[in-house]
Amino acid sequence: GLGRFEHYMLKEIFEQPQTIENAMRGRLDDEEATAHFGGLNLTPQQLRRINRIVLTGCGTSWHAGLVGEYLIEEFARLPVEVEYASELRYRNPPLAEGTMVFAITQSGETADTLAAMRECKRKGLPSLAICNVVGSTIAREADGGVYLHAGPEVGVASTKAFTSQVTVLTLLGLFLGRMRNLSYQAGQRIISHLRSMPEVVQRTLECNDAVREVAEKYFQARNALYLGRLYNFPVALEGALKLKEISYLHAEGYPAAEMKHGPIALVDRDTPSIFVVPRGHIHPKVISNMEEIKARKGPIIAIACEGDDKVAEIADDVICVPDTEEFLQPLVTAVPLQLLAYHIAVLRGCNVDRPRNLAKSVTVE
Ligand code: M6R
Repeated sequence: GLGRFEHYMLKEIFEQPQTIENAMRGRLDDEEATAHFGGLNLTPQQLRRINRIVLTGCGTSWHAGLVGEYLIEEFARLPVEVEYASELRYRNPPLAEGTMVFAITQSGETADTLAAMRECKRKGLPSLAICNVVGSTIAREADGGVYLHAGPEVGVASTKAFTSQVTVLTLLGLFLGRMRNLSYQAGQRIISHLRSMPEVVQRTLECNDAVREVAEKYFQARNALYLGRLYNFPVALEGALKLKEISYLHAEGYPAAEMKHGPIALVDRDTPSIFVVPRGHIHPKVISNMEEIKARKGPIIAIACEGDDKVAEIADDVICVPDTEEFLQPLVTAVPLQLLAYHIAVLRGCNVDRPRNLAKSVTVE
């Protein structure tokens, strides 16, 4: 049931400290400073022979894949490609031996993701699933995989599945990294940061009231831009998708530095830009991207770390989130964007849990 919540989407957003915990349960190994998965069904030899990874999925699951690309390349130094399942299934990419395919899917029933996985299996590649629904078609047909254990996701807008997927991909990066060039010490550091995430995301949820106030200010806008860089670029895409699907507002996600190559022409007084700008080595660069928008009189909403005076000086509104390691920031910064889409949709009188034209699982191509 809904408990104290008015909508499933809100309930599922607030479940995230717990679902992130569930995605890690029993999988962290302090002794060896790595992660373990029960169901990959591959021998250590087979795993060591992997020299390339393809992550495929649709919508939010594809966004999680983009975070996974950055994580796995950083931790395991393996080349990763992220492909829309609907493209992969009809393309004819060279899939050399040593490539491992992961189908990322909440429902395990998405037609394009299933077809992409079957196509890769036909070509002899080990195909694993990162899936939430136990016993779903993709979970059954995959050679092995990792369950999210996020519990049923009812809201059509995917929220907790995204953070669980990102958590599992972090574990996977750790695991593949520790079989390659990631040191024991580095593995331990990653584990200790991961362990703190349920509590950090719990604190992040305290931004809910601040987000609602921002939503009240902007819900009549007609367009919005979501901007971030590195680990927060996929988060920007995900924030824009949430707004589009449940509030029917036009939104676009972009890597912040790409704005000057075209989209900045859209900026005016009525077009808010939502900057995802937590602390990290790219922070000063994102600040200059904010200044470019400011100079064109675009309103700026910033998702930034507590006490970031530099951001506060430039932005019209700031939503504060806790400081975290760069590679774990998506787990934190996605939360205010989920809440922003939620509150704007409610203020616009939209059916949050069952938006028009959409189904929870897309079983047709
Ligand atoms: O069940 P899946 O993860 O395979 O679904 C993929 C997309 O259909 C899904 O993420 C969709 O984009 C959501 N409605 C986004 O909130």
